[in-house]
Amino acid sequence: MNLPSRLPWIAIFAITLAGAAAAARPDCRGAHQLFMQTCSMCHGANGAGYPTIHTPNFTDPKWQARHTDAELIAAVTHGKQGAGRMPAFQGQLTPKQIDALVRCVVRGYGKSHK
Ligand code: HEC
Repeated sequence: MNLPSRLPWIAIFAITLAGAAAAARPDCRGAHQLFMQTCSMCHGANGAGYPTIHTPNFTDPKWQARHTDAELIAAVTHGKQGAGRMPAFQGQLTPKQIDALVRCVVRGYGKSHK
């Protein structure tokens, strides 16, 4: 293949990459409000959690560093039973909403305290 015949493929590749990059960025609009409505009663409006019900402290950088995005997204989707009980939100929230809650709000609490 000579260069001119390859150009359309290079363009398609570039557009695909740009699309993937956009999909990788979470859409944070409305995520904070959703957290306040759906999560803050157990996690606190400040994200610091409540020791009595064993909710983790999202503002602790060490807690943030111990968990991957995938792990946190899985916990919100399927729930998690540790010392406390985190309910599953699959079916109630869309994967996009869960992604934004974790990557914008939960991670956001960690960033403001570094
Ligand atoms: C009924 C109370 C309750 C509600 C509502 C709740 N959580 Fe939780 N969540 C918990 C508890 C308790 C834990 C700790 C579970 C454990 O012992 O590991 C937890 C853990 C988590 C974790 C950490 C998971 C991990 O891997 O350690 C994340 C992230 C989280 N919740 C996000 C959310 C989000 C986002 C919402 C709202 C959509 C939400 N939670 C709603 C009680 C709640």
